[in-house]
Amino acid sequence: MPGLMRDLPARRTTQGQSATTFRAVDKNVWRLLSFLEARPDRQPGSVRTRVVKRRGVALAASVVVFASACAGGTTANVGPQATSTSAPSGPATSNPTGTTVVSHPAGSLQGLAEPSGVLIGTAVDSAALIAEVPYRDTLAKDFGIVTPENDMKWGLIHPERDRYDFAKADQIVDFAQAHGQQVHGHNLAWHNQNPDWLEHGTFTRDELIQILHDHISTVVGHFKGRIAMWDVVNEAIESDGSLRQTVWSKGIGPDYLELAFTFAHDADPTAKLYYNDYALELGGPKTEAVYNIVRDLKNKGVPIDGVGFQTHLVNQVSPRAANFAPILQRFVDLGLDVAITEFDDAIKLTAGTTAAADLEQQAVTYREFVHACLTQVRCRSFTMWGFTDQHSWIPSILPGLGAGLPLDKNYQPKPAYQAMVDELRSTAPATPKR
Ligand code: G3I
Repeated sequence: MPGLMRDLPARRTTQGQSATTFRAVDKNVWRLLSFLEARPDRQPGSVRTRVVKRRGVALAASVVVFASACAGGTTANVGPQATSTSAPSGPATSNPTGTTVVSHPAGSLQGLAEPSGVLIGTAVDSAALIAEVPYRDTLAKDFGIVTPENDMKWGLIHPERDRYDFAKADQIVDFAQAHGQQVHGHNLAWHNQNPDWLEHGTFTRDELIQILHDHISTVVGHFKGRIAMWDVVNEAIESDGSLRQTVWSKGIGPDYLELAFTFAHDADPTAKLYYNDYALELGGPKTEAVYNIVRDLKNKGVPIDGVGFQTHLVNQVSPRAANFAPILQRFVDLGLDVAITEFDDAIKLTAGTTAAADLEQQAVTYREFVHACLTQVRCRSFTMWGFTDQHSWIPSILPGLGAGLPLDKNYQPKPAYQAMVDELRSTAPATPKR
């Protein structure tokens, strides 16, 4: 499928009819692709699609199926029960956010979570989404909410001061909508992956406030009504509880958080707005500082709806979920929702491999944290930072660690996947529907 991406021109911010036509056509291209890929007689990689855009009106010029002699080759052996799910079943209806309403198959992670109303989610790698059928099949089957892993971050979506690039983020949102999935936007104010023009620019306080306002209005406005929840501010607090020194805190001051939430709410009053950070599950000075900040924002009437607990764990030292539940409850007692937003449990590799005991320990950890979310009535979603060890940030950024996700590099379930299935099957029906 690589040809597909090269054909689609980078998208400038467009409002009104043509964008809607784009959306409708793109969404149907995903549905068509999923349908073609679900055909039992299809050979892997035998579908090419060209979409030519002229004058804002998309013309699905041609779908050329290179279906070879259609003998053999199905995706059945790629990930559990992959083939049957990628094409949404039944007549396509859609809800107010334009998401096609489909029920996730029984036995899938999201299907098993349905009784509780908790959304099971994953980060999405846009390159794998385009390039790999098993990636798309598993993504469509198991998940009720998706978070673009990188494509909504400043550096990727706003590479030049006067240019936005929504192409890759739109693909993920279109895919999600075609498969009945909610979208979790990530993120609107952070200290990482910022474009050079911002990070190394010289701006007055007022100019930087205007830049923050324009970015949030443009990006949130572009996806208005299609994003369920946004990480508005990400990782603003250091481990000692102090305010992280970033382009925002240095250039605007501590009130940049309040401004960011206000700008996001103005741009899309329907989206739930979250503060998102890591290591909050451990308790201590950082968790206390975040607690105080969101409490004060809430008390001031700033439109904040929830707190995202990234929960990136290291298997051999991961905290027990039993200590985590009371921490979640404290934030809920402030009248906020909570969510687990970037869960993974990295394993210390031995000569690049994982020991069976570590995989069993990882399964226990996965089960416990899914349980902590299911049994907290205001926990809205349990999102992992990927789902297959084939596509995980861990090895490239944390050398010596890896295998943090529930499916292995061949999309085969690990003990952690089965532990999630067992926990969802046993606990989801018993929890109040949220
Ligand atoms: O896109 C470029 C590519 O063109 C270039 O060839 C390649 C080689 O340098 O880099 C690619 O960019 C990489 C980008 O991921 C996309 O793959 C960046 O180098 C790499 O730093 C970036 O890593 C991301 C990381 O955030 C950046 O901090 C990870 O994929 C992503 O999983 C990770 O996610 C963060 C959350 O946003 C916030 N919480 C922690 C989490 C894990 O670090």
